[in-house]
Amino acid sequence: MDIIFESTTRTFYLNTKNSTYAFFINELGVSEHLYYGKRIPQQDLRGICFRQTYSFAPYDSVVGDRVSPDTFLQEAPSGNAGDSRICALSFVDSQGKYGSRLFYAEHSIREGREPIVGLPYSSAEGAQSLELVLRNKRGDLEVRVFYVVWKEEDVVAKHTQVRNLADGDIRVLKASACVDLWGSEYDLVELYGSYHHEREFVQRTPLKRGVQGNFSERGASGHESNPFFAVCAHDATEDRGDVYAFNFVYSGNFKNEIQVDKLGNTRVVSGISDYAFEHVLPSGGNFCSPELLMTYTDGGLGQMSRNFHTFIRRKIVPPRFAFSHRPIVLNTWEAFGFEIDEQKILDLADSAKEIGAELLVVDDGWFRNDDAKGLGDFAVCKEKFPSGLARLSEKVHEKGLMFGLWFEPEMANGQSELYAARPDWVICSADAQYFSRGQAVLDLGNPEVVEYLFAKMSEILDGVGAEYIKWDMNRYISEVGSSRAARQGEVFHRYILGVYELLRRITERYPYTLIETCAGGGGRFDLGMLYYSPQIWTSDNTDPFSRVNIQLGTSYAYPPSSMGSHFTEAKVSGLDAGKELRYATAAFGAYGYEFDPRKLSKGARARLREYSQQYKREENVVLRGDLYRICSCDDVAAYIQVSEDKTQAVFTLVQFFFSTAQQSRLVRMKGLNADAVYRCSLDNKNYSGSILMNAGIRIGGLEHRGGKAVRITFVEQR
Ligand code: DGJ
Repeated sequence: MDIIFESTTRTFYLNTKNSTYAFFINELGVSEHLYYGKRIPQQDLRGICFRQTYSFAPYDSVVGDRVSPDTFLQEAPSGNAGDSRICALSFVDSQGKYGSRLFYAEHSIREGREPIVGLPYSSAEGAQSLELVLRNKRGDLEVRVFYVVWKEEDVVAKHTQVRNLADGDIRVLKASACVDLWGSEYDLVELYGSYHHEREFVQRTPLKRGVQGNFSERGASGHESNPFFAVCAHDATEDRGDVYAFNFVYSGNFKNEIQVDKLGNTRVVSGISDYAFEHVLPSGGNFCSPELLMTYTDGGLGQMSRNFHTFIRRKIVPPRFAFSHRPIVLNTWEAFGFEIDEQKILDLADSAKEIGAELLVVDDGWFRNDDAKGLGDFAVCKEKFPSGLARLSEKVHEKGLMFGLWFEPEMANGQSELYAARPDWVICSADAQYFSRGQAVLDLGNPEVVEYLFAKMSEILDGVGAEYIKWDMNRYISEVGSSRAARQGEVFHRYILGVYELLRRITERYPYTLIETCAGGGGRFDLGMLYYSPQIWTSDNTDPFSRVNIQLGTSYAYPPSSMGSHFTEAKVSGLDAGKELRYATAAFGAYGYEFDPRKLSKGARARLREYSQQYKREENVVLRGDLYRICSCDDVAAYIQVSEDKTQAVFTLVQFFFSTAQQSRLVRMKGLNADAVYRCSLDNKNYSGSILMNAGIRIGGLEHRGGKAVRITFVEQR
């Protein structure tokens, strides 16, 4: 068993291959945190707890003033219960009173895990779980804390279920997960960005006393922030040092609070944002929080990322896509915008084949000419597609390509039949809302809306037989409110539950249709989405100079296989980039094209065909291998992707600027097998992994204007 309960000390030990998480039931009957870190032998750890009098800390005089909920580390701290730090749980009980002390009642340990109804959650395969039952004194409010452990992947998950055992309603104001850590000599690592720069800025700041953290209150995880964060030792580097990393399996509003308390310990509280949130639980009802994933490593930020990458591939994304070939797509958006029609798509199909694309995606524009009309109705534009989409798809299939279709299901344009008929179906505050991009967000918390969208999408998809859907979302919730829900504090959360329900029904009906989610670029890049869609459009910024940093930033939390990344002609940076550079950056993730290949010469198209073939040869490394970031600084980014069995690797270096000082660089590889011998494509010579990782190789020819990419493959020689 990886989860052990030691009854004399009432201690729980949760072990993974390399970590231990421990807590016990203390003198007050409260679950008190003991330890999270490197794997340690099972022993009585209670001696490390804080047991001293602390002025102004409340205590129970029966137990004594050395035991205060305000000073000991906690597993499930609730508000108004003697702990003045940030709480993870907050309620108004059935008698209208705030807070509730929660005491241990019972527990059970089992193989596998319980599903979280209505929410995405990590796979039960290889899991063991602990259900810890806590109750208030009256016994009419119950909190079940679920811990799930995946030994092989070094990941632990935590989520809670609040149950109302009283006769009257309970109001849940907060149901987050808490992880208390000893000490505060840590840095906080977070991913920030904006539209066109999603997760590009990896911010690392030392923790200070007080509260820090990040959040989203937009109804989606967002372009600016991301639910992922890490707390690492000041001296942790890419390759060594203590790191605790967290991510939330949820796509709506979130809040990560990191508090350094009066004793210099660190509290991590992560969950659904409490902004405009209040969930009413009628008698007998329950509320389940999404799960928080955590991993500990002493192998630095690189190993932290690889722990999460492996976990996401194995336990989050739909298994049928996790390790399979992802089709190379050609998408119409960047080249044509709304200007698409049947003939253009068919012409494009021919050149798509020529460059080695396997699937043609009809992006936005099939039911409208601009972004003002038609969202919600999805009525095919007959002038542009006289034979209809089903016939078009047939013709594309006849040309030997797969077919993909863009949707933005969660929205309605102000100018749509849907909005005219059902204005009460959009999310809207008492003051009405802006029609941003001409559209409003549909109230997916209303099951009728989900039913309508499912019927609409199925009607189209049944005819079209698409192998791929691009599921877009181009507007945040800016004025929350529902004409239907009596309980306005539930609108944000019920909306995202409705999105999941629609995704569930669509993926159930079309299990082999690959969904790539998207939100105005990468505005909803999170584990909740990855549970349904194995890849997410990373950003609308496909300029290789920006993309390389967007992708490396995103890679802190998410594997390359989850990042839609296309070869385009974008010039957002204004800098020139050659084809090699464009290929090198796009081949980092789930590869595709997004431009008009008909404009290229025959020779150039042949070159792209070679890239497509090369990508297929390297796909095993890119989509299923391990990523090692080597450097990311002002003028250069370098990383190596290594196959799981370490027999094949692809190294990429992107140089942004011309430099006379750096005409060559010595680079040390990572992640190879030290004892193996590899053929290096740079000079076609053989080197041992040890030489490549310790002495390194010198890469020349960097005296190049306007940026340059160097790609080197390593293949083990036997
Ligand atoms: C935003 C997406 O990020 C783009 O790729 C494209 O699909 C447009 N929406 C279409 O409106």
